Amino acid sequence: MDTNILSRFSQYAENAIEEENPTAQMLTRSGKRVIRLNIGDPAKFFPTPKYMVDAYINALKEGKTGYCDPEGILELREAVSNRYKRIYNVDVNPNDGTFITHGVSEALIFLNSILVNPGDRAVMFKPYYAVCYSGFRVFGGEPIFQEYQEDREWDVDTDDLDRKIKAAKKDGKVVKYLMVTNPSNPTGMVLDRNVIERIADIANNNDLVLISDEIYDEVVYNGAKFTSISQIAKGIPHIIFNGASKDLDATGFRIGFVVVPGDDAVSKVLKKSIYDFCAIRLCASTPAQYAVTEGINNIIEHRKSIDYFIREIEDRANFASKMINDSDYMHVIPPRGAYYLFPKLDMEKLDLENDKDFVHKLLEEEGVLLTRGSGFGGEDHVRLVALPPKETLARAIEKIDRFCSRHSK
Ligand SMILES: Cc1ncc(COP(=O)(O)O)c(C=O)c1O
Repeated sequence: MDTNILSRFSQYAENAIEEENPTAQMLTRSGKRVIRLNIGDPAKFFPTPKYMVDAYINALKEGKTGYCDPEGILELREAVSNRYKRIYNVDVNPNDGTFITHGVSEALIFLNSILVNPGDRAVMFKPYYAVCYSGFRVFGGEPIFQEYQEDREWDVDTDDLDRKIKAAKKDGKVVKYLMVTNPSNPTGMVLDRNVIERIADIANNNDLVLISDEIYDEVVYNGAKFTSISQIAKGIPHIIFNGASKDLDATGFRIGFVVVPGDDAVSKVLKKSIYDFCAIRLCASTPAQYAVTEGINNIIEHRKSIDYFIREIEDRANFASKMINDSDYMHVIPPRGAYYLFPKLDMEKLDLENDKDFVHKLLEEEGVLLTRGSGFGGEDHVRLVALPPKETLARAIEKIDRFCSRHSK
């Protein structure tokens, strides 16, 4: 058989976060300690709250181990709907507009399966969450990028954004959606309400479906105030992604939520198609859904866990930001949401080719595993997670600084 059997878009299935894992594993096998700051997995550092683990075990013991409705168990859809009412005062229909997926990752596959024909355009902001980009590219999509302005604390030039969309449409391109990740992975930026309002207007005026990945919506600090697109976009077709991985510290449960609050003609078409995609993969993990239902509904226990988590993340992220900004070779804008730091490397001072070279050699020489910024569309940057305790972050940043000194020109 011809080995040239892969689809022409399969080459885009890449995730820079995992790319140095083989080297890290080899180093570990040879007895070297590796500090892994590449993956945003809170459960590795903050155990998933016990009340949710107990709810998972109970679901198993009660025999809730079969398939459930394709769109998810009603209890969880109601919990998600109530959560949107309680936190954002947004009405979401639990029976038509709330869908449970295997993480936001599966929701991204649904989104692109539903909307994208090869050559279609979608607007995404740069730096982007790596899987938003690759998840779109594997369907043959061609992104229209709008850069966040790093020298203006990751602000957005919304006039430029509007111009770019109009130019693409004038050129005959089909532009399907505009996607925001807020709070941002990888920068930790939280968008101001007025910027979101402007983005929503632009999507609406240009007939684009507005998508917002808000998986870190409760993980905000340093004085930031989070606004959900669902609060702004009333009357505009939009889809919100959220889930259990980050706010509920349960990455391995693999539960995501897709919320479509609108009842306009476009939202109706989207809801029908999302349901159909849920149906062709049968359902998301049933016992995990019961655990997540308890995770959301037990407001007192959740508050305790998330308050502690946010306090710790704020402290760790600020501590690491300060250390990075004391270095001669990097500069970071301290995050205000999520738990990533995205420092810019001063490549002029370093004898390294690019951020990929930086990450690879840093791992080999110092045993610190980061992710290259170019994997998020942010060349000359690296991403590190602020999840480990401060002692670990300090050790890692000292090693990074030592590595930079050794490679200075
Ligand atoms: C912005 C963003 N969206 C989605 C995901 C993946 O979410 P899930 O675990 O629900 O698949 C991540 C994981 O890091 C993320 O940072």
